[in-house]
Amino acid sequence: MSYSPQALKEAINSLKRYRLNSVSKHHERYIFPLLSGTYFSYRKIDVQRLVSIAYSISSNPSYLDVGCGYGDFLKRIRQYIPNAIGIEKNSDIFYECGIAKPDFINIADARWEIKQDYDIIFVGWMDPGVDFRDAVKSKTEVVITTLDQGLSLAAEYDAHGYKRIAYWRTPSWEDVNHEIMNYYYTKVPRETYLKLIKMRRAHNLWYIYCSNETKSEVIVKTLIRNMQGESEASSSRYDFEDVLDECGFKYLESVGDSTSCERLWEIYFDN
Ligand SMILES: C[S@@+](CC[C@H](N)C(=O)[O-])C[C@H]1O[C@@H](n2cnc3c(N)ncnc32)[C@H](O)[C@@H]1O
Repeated sequence: MSYSPQALKEAINSLKRYRLNSVSKHHERYIFPLLSGTYFSYRKIDVQRLVSIAYSISSNPSYLDVGCGYGDFLKRIRQYIPNAIGIEKNSDIFYECGIAKPDFINIADARWEIKQDYDIIFVGWMDPGVDFRDAVKSKTEVVITTLDQGLSLAAEYDAHGYKRIAYWRTPSWEDVNHEIMNYYYTKVPRETYLKLIKMRRAHNLWYIYCSNETKSEVIVKTLIRNMQGESEASSSRYDFEDVLDECGFKYLESVGDSTSCERLWEIYFDN
C-alpha cells in the first residue's frame, strides 16, 4: 500500500480519536488494519496450518513474509518458527508510529532484494500495481498467498511455474469492518441492519502453491490431518476471534448464495 508519511500521520490521529469511543479493543484490527492488524483476517488455525506446512517439508523451515507491514501476522508465525523473517518496503510505518523496527523485519524492496532461498514464502495481500511474483518464483518451491477478491492484485502463481494445490476462504478486514460498523458504530434502523446481514460475504482467499510434486503430496496430507484436528480442538484460539464469531464469520460457517456457497476455513483441494 502506497501511503505518504502525511497520510500515515492522519491515520494515526484517526486511530487515536477512534479509541476514545471504541466499543471493543479488538475492533481496531478490522478498522485500521495497517496500524493494528492485517488486511486478511485470520484465526489461530490459519497460523497453525502454515506452520504445519512448513514443518512438513523441513525440520528447520526457512520462512519469509513479503510485504509484512509491521509484522502482526509474522509475529504469530514466529511463535512456532522463531527464525521466520519479513521484508517490508516502507519504513514509515515504524518511524511515524513510533514503533521500534524489529530485527526480524528488513526494510527492502521484494522486487530485487530477496537474497536467499526459502522453504516457504508468504505473500499476504499484494497491492494493485505492485507485482513481485517473478522475484518470489526464483526463491521458493512453496508460495502461500492471500488475495482479497476485487481489492488486492489477483496474485495467482499458476503462470509462474506453480500448481495451486489447496485453498480456503476467510473474511477480509473489510468484510468484518462492514459488520462491525453496521452494528456498533452506525445508527442503522434494525430492519436495514437485518437486510444488510443477508448480504454478508467473505472475500479473502488463501492459496497454497507448490512447484514440487513430492512436496505437494506431503502438504496435502498435512492439511487433511490439520483439518481433522481443528474440529476436535476448537478451543485453541486468539482472543480477537470472538469478533469474527459475533459478526457471523464462524469456523465452517456457510457464506455466499446458492450459486456459489463455500464454508469459511474449509480447505478445498485442487486435483
Ligand atoms: C496492504 S499492505 C499488507 C500488509 C500486511 N501483509 C497485512 O496484511 O496487513 C501491503 C504491504 O506490502 C508492502 N509492499 C508493497 N510493495 C512492496 C515491495 N516491493 N517490497 C516489499 N514490501 C512491499 C507495502 O509497503 C505494505 O506494507
